[in-house]
Amino acid sequence: MGRVIERAARMVKIIDPSKPIFIGGAGMALLMLWILTPFPTFPKLLDVANTTILPEIDDAPTIDCVTGSGQGVNLGHDPVDQTFYDDQSLSYSIGNPVKNWDEKRREWLKHHPSFATGVEDRVIVLTGSQPWPCKNPIGDNLLLRLFKNKVDYCRIHGYDIFYNNVFLHPKMVGLWVKLPGLRATMLAHPEAEWIFWVDSDAIFTDMDIKPPLEKYKDHNLVVHGWSYNVYEKKSWAGVNSGVFFIRNCQWSMDFLEAWAMIGPQTPNYEKWSQIVSSTMTDKTHPEVDDQSALVYLLLTEKETWGNKVYIENQYELSGYWAHFVDSFDTISDKYGTIEKGVTELRRPHAEKVSEHYAAVMNEVFFNKGGDWTTKRPFITHFTACKPCSGVHWGYSDEACWKGMEKALNFADNQVLRNYGFRRLDLLNTSSVHPLPFGFSSDKKDT
Ligand SMILES: *[C@@H]1O[C@H](CO)[C@@H](O)[C@H](O)[C@H]1NC(C)=O
Ligand SMILES: *[C@@H]1O[C@H](CO)[C@@H](O)[C@H](O)[C@H]1NC(C)=O
Repeated sequence: MGRVIERAARMVKIIDPSKPIFIGGAGMALLMLWILTPFPTFPKLLDVANTTILPEIDDAPTIDCVTGSGQGVNLGHDPVDQTFYDDQSLSYSIGNPVKNWDEKRREWLKHHPSFATGVEDRVIVLTGSQPWPCKNPIGDNLLLRLFKNKVDYCRIHGYDIFYNNVFLHPKMVGLWVKLPGLRATMLAHPEAEWIFWVDSDAIFTDMDIKPPLEKYKDHNLVVHGWSYNVYEKKSWAGVNSGVFFIRNCQWSMDFLEAWAMIGPQTPNYEKWSQIVSSTMTDKTHPEVDDQSALVYLLLTEKETWGNKVYIENQYELSGYWAHFVDSFDTISDKYGTIEKGVTELRRPHAEKVSEHYAAVMNEVFFNKGGDWTTKRPFITHFTACKPCSGVHWGYSDEACWKGMEKALNFADNQVLRNYGFRRLDLLNTSSVHPLPFGFSSDKKDT
């Protein structure tokens, strides 16, 4: 009986009196009766709820707090028609490339029409870390928060995310781990056009920015860097292979194979290390890593690979952390000042519609003379600070972990504002304050 009363009480709550009441006197009487009578009339109440609160009458029909899914894709539909998944020779592993992948993907989409709509904008973020606990005592906490940052970003933009924490190829460990992960993700997600690889130590520090996918319609790989440094200087640091977009297509299938050919799982790894090092002008590290291998392919097979690779530097796809962390307070204040002047930007809103406010902010930002160099960096990458091992080349413990703390909180403040809170001190992770109504996120305006 107790449970029944609780349910009824919830129903009453759901039928909010501030909304037009369509349940009518009879319905209400039934409801009251039901509250007073034990179990047997239970199905009747569901009837009442189902037939009286219709979508046409109330835009948000709710039964037990559940509103229609509205995602537009059909997660429960997989017809018996044969697709590439039914091919016995299908392999998810590097070394066994799928042939005619574009056609096979198209075929799968034909059988899953709800995913075919909007496929060109569908992105899955791929990231991960090692299977075992971190050596750095705060490493696991940092990894958790670095992952949370990516989950937040994905939720805001409707992207899927896969966190891989196993080695899908026993020899492709360390920096090479991303290749087998990408390969398997391509097959697991034929509905996604782009796979967005993001290193665990890279932080989304502008939750508003959505990559301009339309700009890359003629390219299959988008990576941060400078063409001059790749093609003229022949520098292994000409691109940063820690963050990139790769299109889910045959070209990428083949590119991953070519890329992996230089990797540690091949018997010729040592030979490749020498060849790649001698092609770069600035490679001091003897072993070839995935980034120098990428630059090597761009340099030596420009026709096949280079022409389909977009080297991006208009915005920070992989912003170097040491350039940015000290300016996060100033940047917060700048955005706060903009918000203060625009009523619409101060309006509380649902997190789901964040992209609308991001567009408004973007317009105002550039109208007020802001440019890409003064914008929040899209991604701040903690290159040379390894959160899990605790290794930090050329930087102190404090610089790395405080910098990461600050970047994580800078990003999290952008998330928390839609939950009604903010941090005033970017270095104090645990202390938050409620936002006043029609707030400004300018820290001085408390
Ligand atoms: C609700 O009513 C609709 C339309 O009459 C019916 O198709 C549906 O099966 C009902 N659902 C439940 C849960 O009773
Ligand atoms: C964070 O703020 C809280 C509340 O103001 C304070 O008690 C705590 O000492 C601060 N922690 C740090 C690390 O500054």
